[in-house]
Amino acid sequence: MNLILFILAAILIIGGLYYWLVVVTEGVFLGRRVVVWLYDITAHKYDRIKEFDAEAEQFFVIRPLLRQLRHIPAPRILDVATGTGRLPWFLLHEPSFHGRVIGLDASAGMLREAAQKLRPFHHRASLVQQTADHLPFPAHTFDAVTCLEALEFFPSDIQALQEMVRVLRPGGILMVTRRCGREAKTFLHHHHSPTQFEAILTRLGLTNIQTRPWQLDYDLVIATRPAI
Ligand SMILES: C[S@@+](CC[C@H](N)C(=O)[O-])C[C@H]1O[C@@H](n2cnc3c(N)ncnc32)[C@H](O)[C@@H]1O
Repeated sequence: MNLILFILAAILIIGGLYYWLVVVTEGVFLGRRVVVWLYDITAHKYDRIKEFDAEAEQFFVIRPLLRQLRHIPAPRILDVATGTGRLPWFLLHEPSFHGRVIGLDASAGMLREAAQKLRPFHHRASLVQQTADHLPFPAHTFDAVTCLEALEFFPSDIQALQEMVRVLRPGGILMVTRRCGREAKTFLHHHHSPTQFEAILTRLGLTNIQTRPWQLDYDLVIATRPAI
């Protein structure tokens, strides 16, 4: 009897740990290579799982971003952790967008999916395989930097945010997501309350910080790098 209870307890503990480490936090406590490997092996089904709704994407993400950039005829946008190219794809379908977009991601598998989708827009979209902690661009390059549903999976979200601010030109726009909802606190130090997150952005020199509820698991946060 004791042995059966012991085995049941062990199964529960191992199963719970697996669920937390792999399913909920997607490998972030096992290191960057594990996170990227998990995305590599699931890239082919990512879009099917996410079922993005074109109208919702345009309404909540693309148009608010373009409203902030309306005074720039052809904005240059960097999408960090672009995955299968969600943001570039919806951005390039918006007739009022005449700019260019670069999608950066660490996962070759996710970028392969993105490359297929973005092929019709190859003259205005490019993809780069790189991690978010060292962005391979000079300072002040982009009119906007975006990063959707990814900060909590980086080894250091603060280092990645520093890099995003570095490559943003003065007056440029940062659009990122903050993990919220039921599972957010299980990310431990990778989780920030709205106040903490806004304080991080303020320390990085950003202003006009607006946090907007977006999805069950994510707030959308928009901020400006002040003009010099
Ligand atoms: C949940 S997906 C989000 C993808 C896309 N932004 C979207 O909203 O559909 C997270 C992405 O972050 C990428 N990623 C994880 N860690 C990374 C890192 N350290 N540097 C760059 N990309 C990373 C993964 O490969 C994956 O494509």
